[in-house]
Amino acid sequence: MQSKIIKLPKIEDPRGNLSVIEKDIIPFAIKRTYFLYDVPSGGSRGGHAHKEQESLIVAVAGSFDVVLNDGKQRKVFTLNRPYEGLYVAKGTWRELENFSSGAVSLVVSSGEYDEEDYIRDFEEFLSTYSK
Ligand code: TYD
Repeated sequence: MQSKIIKLPKIEDPRGNLSVIEKDIIPFAIKRTYFLYDVPSGGSRGGHAHKEQESLIVAVAGSFDVVLNDGKQRKVFTLNRPYEGLYVAKGTWRELENFSSGAVSLVVSSGEYDEEDYIRDFEEFLSTYSK
């Protein structure tokens, strides 16, 4: 699986810590940023893959699990540190679940929002990527 945790710079300071996501730290140019918050207890997000877009997912507050499947391997990543990002390669099915209360999922993406880039049917995903 190409997807992996990327350690972000952490600038420690008694006034509070600071982490950065920028070019050269992640393997794609950033085109868009969005965030998920107020996820109800027991709720889940995701449930799709992208054909071309790549993402970096960071738990900037709280914790949640990201379940990835590249068609060959399934892996669960627990995100709970603001200085760690999960790089999600294209062609990877993602589910976000087990959100803690107050969790915020920051997602930076290589592309603008484009519904055409989504695969939202798991069977269709498997038929394309499990070979
Ligand atoms: P979706 O990507 O399915 O959410 P998630 O994977 O985080 O669970 O998007 C949910 C809805 O929000 C969908 O109707 C499209 C819309 N949306 C935008 O308009 N712009 C965006 O950048 C994103 C990510 C979603």
